[in-house]
Amino acid sequence: MHVQTDRLTLREFSTSDVPSVYALESLPEVVRYQTWPPRTLAEASSVVHEIIATRSESPRQHVELAVELHDGAFLGLVGAWIDGGKASLWFAVMPEAWGRGYATEAMRAFIPLLGNVRLEIECDPRNTGSWKLAERLGFVRESLTERAEEVKGEWVDTVVYMMAAWSRAENVVGHRTGTGG
Ligand SMILES: CC(C)(COP(=O)(O)OP(=O)(O)OC[C@H]1O[C@@H](n2cnc3c(N)ncnc32)[C@H](O)[C@@H]1OP(=O)(O)O)[C@@H](O)C(=O)NCCC(=O)NCCS
Repeated sequence: MHVQTDRLTLREFSTSDVPSVYALESLPEVVRYQTWPPRTLAEASSVVHEIIATRSESPRQHVELAVELHDGAFLGLVGAWIDGGKASLWFAVMPEAWGRGYATEAMRAFIPLLGNVRLEIECDPRNTGSWKLAERLGFVRESLTERAEEVKGEWVDTVVYMMAAWSRAENVVGHRTGTGG
């Protein structure tokens, strides 16, 4: 899968992305609301190799793409786990690039690649950047569960945002898609 937007390229991962994923997911502020601690280089390598290994599965359940500027500078990633007609989504961007709409632009290009599925974004309600992105994309808050799970030694709440199907009307952006790469 390969998509270009006005500012971004979304492309398949390769093993050469291990240092970039490590640079992203070793940052405490990036994994603050994730269930895992900052990743080691070995863990980042496992993540990238798992993404690559599952790419050829049919149907493809784990879809995860690297996001970069047109000059090739790594910005982050977008991902989905597809099961039973539902895609659970995630995304992360290098902190120095927050606040410029890159995640919004990337998700608007990524979601149509997933086909006709219900869409879900689940996050900690303290993860403001995440739920604001969901709302910017037109997702609707479906539930708030207090003390939903224990993460990193604390009981945390969970909000779930849903969209029945991708709403093109709210998310019109110009982008070119292709299947190469
Ligand atoms: C979640 C995350 C990707 C959101 O990043 P972000 O930069 O806030 O999101 P966007 O790229 O959509 O940018 C939106 C911000 O850019 C601003 N912006 C500037 N230009 C913009 C544009 N062209 N389009 C949209 N927004 C724009 C918006 O006003 C908004 O700022 P605000 O929240 O102060 O109003 C980021 O916080 C992150 O990587 N967090 C760590 C990983 C994580 O927790 N992921 C969630 C797991 S599900």
